[in-house]
Amino acid sequence: MPNKTKMSTTISGFSKLSKEEKINWIANTYFSDSLQAVNLIKNYWNSDEKLQQLHDEFIENTITNFYLPFGVAPNFLINTRAYTIPMVIEESSVVAAASKAAKYWANRGGFKATVLNTEKIGQVHFIYKGDTSKLIKFFEAIKIKLFEATESVTKNMQKRGGGILNIELRDKTDVMENYFQLHATFETKDSMGANFINTCLEQFAKTMKAEAQFFDDFTDEEHITIVMSILSNYVPNCIVRAEVSCKVEELKDKKIDNPYLFAEKFVQAVRIAEVEPFRAVTHNKGIMNGIDAVVLATGNDFRAVEAGIHAYASKSGQYSSLSHAKIENGIFSFWMEIPLALGTVGGLTSLHPLVKLSLEMLEKPSSQELMQIVAVAGLAQNFAALRSLTTTGIQEGHMKMHLNNILNQFEANEEERKMIEHHFKTNPVTHASVVEFIEDIRKYTKL
Ligand code: MEV
Repeated sequence: MPNKTKMSTTISGFSKLSKEEKINWIANTYFSDSLQAVNLIKNYWNSDEKLQQLHDEFIENTITNFYLPFGVAPNFLINTRAYTIPMVIEESSVVAAASKAAKYWANRGGFKATVLNTEKIGQVHFIYKGDTSKLIKFFEAIKIKLFEATESVTKNMQKRGGGILNIELRDKTDVMENYFQLHATFETKDSMGANFINTCLEQFAKTMKAEAQFFDDFTDEEHITIVMSILSNYVPNCIVRAEVSCKVEELKDKKIDNPYLFAEKFVQAVRIAEVEPFRAVTHNKGIMNGIDAVVLATGNDFRAVEAGIHAYASKSGQYSSLSHAKIENGIFSFWMEIPLALGTVGGLTSLHPLVKLSLEMLEKPSSQELMQIVAVAGLAQNFAALRSLTTTGIQEGHMKMHLNNILNQFEANEEERKMIEHHFKTNPVTHASVVEFIEDIRKYTKL
């Protein structure tokens, strides 16, 4: 039974209710017009019941679907191959900016991308109170058993060329009393590897615990307490590099009449993000606009990618720009190296029909190819943002797209749209100025 108090509303057994019952409870508990809420929720259901059920079952307590636009940015030339990149994002201008940057660089040799390494990391965190030399001896004695105990899990991965690369014992007692780790590295080929890594780690923990009981050197007081076993989303040895370069004079285009000045300002803008954390965060956010959109469209874990990339941006001890730029011997170069743990098999990639579609659109990339595509999307986005910021300012492009959203919000009709578009060709677009103009024309037409 729902228990409604002034401050909070709780319910027990919610997960056991049917979908219909959950919706009714939500609608009756939180909405003055419960029928309207139910209708809205159901309006977003897919009419194909099987497809809806597939989505319902991705998570728990699903009541409906939440749409995000799925756009595409064509003309991305990466290592001489042309791609149309799928992007899932709610922010206007991102796909337009990506497409523009893609076309701009396609005319200047395209993007180059290189995977530098692909190592993933997982850790068993444990507490050991005792003589460290005995723990080292114990680890050396059982290391082989850790590999053997995970053979049934690693067999298939090994067939694909992956598996456990190494397991190390790490003494972390300098940062926390009695704290040690098994720090393991993995190659997971085309899968992101989270399940594989976590299964291996949990087995390491079990084996270690069991073996410790029979290790004669340990006294009764010297025992191992496992705290947790989990992969790390920080993957500083799973790095992809994306870059563009051309002669400074080749940067010239319709909107860049002085390429030398443009290149100089661009490099300064990147430098500011390298040395100044407030700017670095926004600069990197622009990069993530491109990265997250492709990561989402391809069914990968954008939270893991975000966490790992921002940690990498802080690796010097100060949060800094992910991208870098220089002018050397008349050549403009712009590049970025980022950690990316992505999968093109497993997880959502074989479940979500639109993820499958994205991967097919990208011509079924390997995870290394996907790393390259995602990094390029981030670099392209950063280029587009810095290009606008250092020339026209960001609002010009943003507000054009935003104008359309405001017109939709106000359900502007054809005639109103024409008048508004005409007016704002020569007047600055701000949210307030558009709203005021719509209200004015509506007032006027009512008279
Ligand atoms: C907006 O989503 C992203 C930018 O703020 C990025 C940047 O400032 O570099 C335009």
